[in-house]
Amino acid sequence: MVLLDGKKTSQEIKEELKIKVNQLLAEGKKVPHLAAVLVGDNGASITYVNAKVKACEYVGFDSTLIKLPADISEDDLIKKIDQLNNNDDIDGYIVQLPLPEHIDELKVTMAISPSKDVDGFHPENLGKMVLNLPCFLPATPYGIVQLLERYKIETSGKHCVVLGRSHIVGSPMSILMARKHPYGNCTVTLTHSRTKNLKEITKSADIIIAALGKTEFLTADMVKEGVVVIDVGITRVKDETKKSGFKLLGDVKFDEVSQKASYITPVPGGVGPMTIASLMVNTFKAVEMK
Ligand code: GUN
Repeated sequence: MVLLDGKKTSQEIKEELKIKVNQLLAEGKKVPHLAAVLVGDNGASITYVNAKVKACEYVGFDSTLIKLPADISEDDLIKKIDQLNNNDDIDGYIVQLPLPEHIDELKVTMAISPSKDVDGFHPENLGKMVLNLPCFLPATPYGIVQLLERYKIETSGKHCVVLGRSHIVGSPMSILMARKHPYGNCTVTLTHSRTKNLKEITKSADIIIAALGKTEFLTADMVKEGVVVIDVGITRVKDETKKSGFKLLGDVKFDEVSQKASYITPVPGGVGPMTIASLMVNTFKAVEMK
């Protein structure tokens, strides 16, 4: 079994970006500038946004963190987004999800200028992805493709089963794995809460991408020998023995599934760091596409 080390791979990608940023500086050009909007005080969101800001600092990008109160109105948030759209100094930005319940996430996403949408969530970018046109690919699915690519995992003609149909992971992932691309060309099955005979489907999978948000859902009896397993889940579970008071669990029962897998991502240290690396790649791309 080979552990797909997202931490190491994301570090390699960040080192490559660092070199490109230094080239920009040597040419007297402006470095990329990423902004992140954080609404409210969701603990996991604060951690993720801080990690994104830290990654910017590491690769040499400028970054701006905009913290807004949980009770901000939808109108005021959209005004903030308009300001970011019109601020020429900002090359790309993200609005960290989830948003408080009184705010319509789709409305907010659609207010983001597609040319600055480095999360790749705007319908224009998602549509371009489907058509195989240049666009910003959603950070987590793009990170997974980059992980498969860096480990040279054969995907062509394989049966890829995606668990979960979220707008930000499952659905775009299924499209990327099926597209005509060296790290695509899979026969894809997208499964969800209404899927029947799930075990039969997962047992026939060469590649499983678990993104359903249910801790330790995928067990050894659901997979075949030699399967490639990508675990997108990352749920905080109370654990008094930890200093933080919680531990992180994925959607895969790692200890048993890893015994049968040929490649598997750990949680943490698998997909999470790859999402951040992809966001950095997209932000650099935002400058190149200007
Ligand atoms: N919440 C969970 N994952 C993501 C992500 O990739 N981007 C944003 N903006 N919010 C998220």
